[in-house]
Amino acid sequence: MRKVRKAVFPVAGLGTRFLPATKAIPKEMLTVVDRPVIQYVVDEAREAGIEHFIFVTGRNKAVIEDHFDIQFELYDTLAQRGKTDQLDRLRALQPAPGQTSFTRQQEPLGLGHAVWCARELVGDEPFALLLPDMIMHSQESCLKGMVDLYEESGGNVVAVQECDPAEAHKYGIVAKGAEVGGGFEITAMVEKPARGTAPSNLYINGRYILQPEIFAILENQERGAGGEIQLTDAMIRLGETQKMFGFHYRGDTYDCGSPEGFVEANLAFALRRDDLREVVESVMARLAGTSRG
Ligand code: G1P
Repeated sequence: MRKVRKAVFPVAGLGTRFLPATKAIPKEMLTVVDRPVIQYVVDEAREAGIEHFIFVTGRNKAVIEDHFDIQFELYDTLAQRGKTDQLDRLRALQPAPGQTSFTRQQEPLGLGHAVWCARELVGDEPFALLLPDMIMHSQESCLKGMVDLYEESGGNVVAVQECDPAEAHKYGIVAKGAEVGGGFEITAMVEKPARGTAPSNLYINGRYILQPEIFAILENQERGAGGEIQLTDAMIRLGETQKMFGFHYRGDTYDCGSPEGFVEANLAFALRRDDLREVVESVMARLAGTSRG
């Protein structure tokens, strides 16, 4: 059993749903309370034991690289002013030297293509894939639960959750087979099924553990839904020769790729903070009475 040491974060997306906010800054750097979206996802990976963080970026995304670098002047100023709490918090989130890699997806050809761009950095070992639009909250992180399942089952592991059947056409959907350990066998997968044709309401929520053989498949993957090179289509082909397991994640997920999900994430994470809960509750109660007025 080869350990999952590396994680890939595809962060090349244009963020058109957040214009004008994303005209000059990447959508992954929008803040949920006081941390950028990408920080939540990297922290989830670290909590699951990931040791190397691979970012597939694009034009105008350099600030993500800066975010995970040491800010010497800032650290020095905080130290001189005795702001050791803030300094310690920043240091705790800081990847160690050599723990990050960055490559570029030069053209927006789809998620499958973005993942393929990481092939040299991943090499010949299993890897985690985390889509940074989705941020999660639960007792134990989604990826940690997947790693635990993977260490028993091997193969490939895809996290799923239930969605409103009317929303199934927006996602990758899996069909559930026999239960295996903490997961189940995936018997079918489809990317963005036409309305009314989805095999279940279990949608792929943006967390994967994949074997490196996916890269050779992605190399010649034809365009699928939306005219893009789809990861789900490549996983269907990988499933012909390898095991594909579903992990039913039961925590909370916020789709920060949509304005509604982003606002919900801000409220939900603020309400979990001891220093913010009361004020946010009272502001929400006050605004609830006036929002339509
Ligand atoms: C991607 C995947 C899809 C998955 C979704 C989760 O789609 O292709 O299978 O359900 O992420 O957010 P996208 O959101 O990039 O259209």
